[in-house]
This record gives sequence, C-alpha cells and structure tokens, in this order.
Amino acid sequence: MKRILAVLALASLASGASAQMKPEDAIKFRQSAYGFMAWNMGKIKANLEGTYNKDEVAKAAHAVAVTATSGMGALYLPGTDKGTGWKETRVKPEFFQQQEEVGKLARAFNAAAAELDKAAASGDMAAVKAAFGKTGESCKACHDKFRKD
Ligand code: HEC
Repeated sequence: MKRILAVLALASLASGASAQMKPEDAIKFRQSAYGFMAWNMGKIKANLEGTYNKDEVAKAAHAVAVTATSGMGALYLPGTDKGTGWKETRVKPEFFQQQEEVGKLARAFNAAAAELDKAAASGDMAAVKAAFGKTGESCKACHDKFRKD
C-alpha cells in the first residue's frame, strides 16, 4: 500500500516529463495503477457481497474512474513491450500492433468506469451491481486479448 501511494505521488511529479520517463518506471507505474484499481474493485465487490457502505463504494468507484482516465496510454512507451517494472511485464506484443483495438477496449472500459462512478455516487446498489459487472467485464476483455496469463 505504501509503495502504491509513493508511486502515485511520483507519477504526478513525472507528468509532463514523460518523454524522459525510463521504460522501467513506465512499467512500474502501469503495474501499480492496475494493482490500485484491482484493490478498489475488490472493495466494491466486498461491499456488494457483505455490508454495503455507500461512502466506501463511492470512493472506490471514483478512484477506478479517475485512474481509468489518467492517460495510462502514455505508460506504453516504445521499448516497454519487454522489460521489468515491479516484475516482468505481462503485456502482449499485440498491444503495440493493434492500437485501434486497444483504443476501443480502453474507451469501453472508461465508459463502464464512469457509469460505475455515477451509480456509486447515487448509492443505488442495484445500479452499482450492474455497472460493477460491466466494468469487470471490460477489464477482462482487455486482459484476454493483451495480457499474458
Ligand atoms: C486496455 C487494456 C486493459 C484494461 C482496460 C485493464 N487492464 Fe489490467 N492489465 C493490462 C495489461 C496490458 C497488463 C500488464 C501490465 C504490465 O505488466 O506491464 C495489466 C495488468 C493488470 C494487473 C497486474 C498488475 C501487476 O501487478 O503486474 C492487474 C491486477 C490488473 N491488470 C487489473 C485490472 C483491473 C481491475 C482492470 C479494470 C478495473 C484492468 N486491469 C483493466 C491491460 C488492461
């Protein structure tokens, strides 16, 4: 957790300096961002399956939506198709060759995350459940195509 926060702080310092970003750092930032989103998705799931806390769900959904629209595409620099961030990258080479398909999946993911953010802010649990399902599917759609097992 501490490490994720440190990386997010670094990421904001580094913005605007992406041209000089080291490939290793770009891989670290994206792995951290995905891990951070997974942590927040896990919180929403736990709330849907257990006691529902509107504020916790709203904060978690907002964190996912904001991370989704943070411009993560900039972290897929040339030369980051291979290499090691916190661990060896799992991106597939196709990610760099099928930009149109990546864009389509990323836009679908952004739209689903925005819908989840809206539903969570309203506190409508049924709407959150539906939007959570769609968001999770959009994560998986990209992983199925562009992430190694
Ligand atoms: C547009 C494609 C795309 C979308 C959308 C996407 N991911 Fe990923 N995800 C990837 C790729 C590519 C990697 C591998 C990154 C690397 O290792 O360099 C990854 C890696 C991960 C990892 C492993 C991180 C690590 O520690 O190495 C987790 C966890 C993860 N994603 C969760 C999610 C969740 C949760 C969502 C949705 C809320 C999501 N992803 C949406 C493409 C995507």
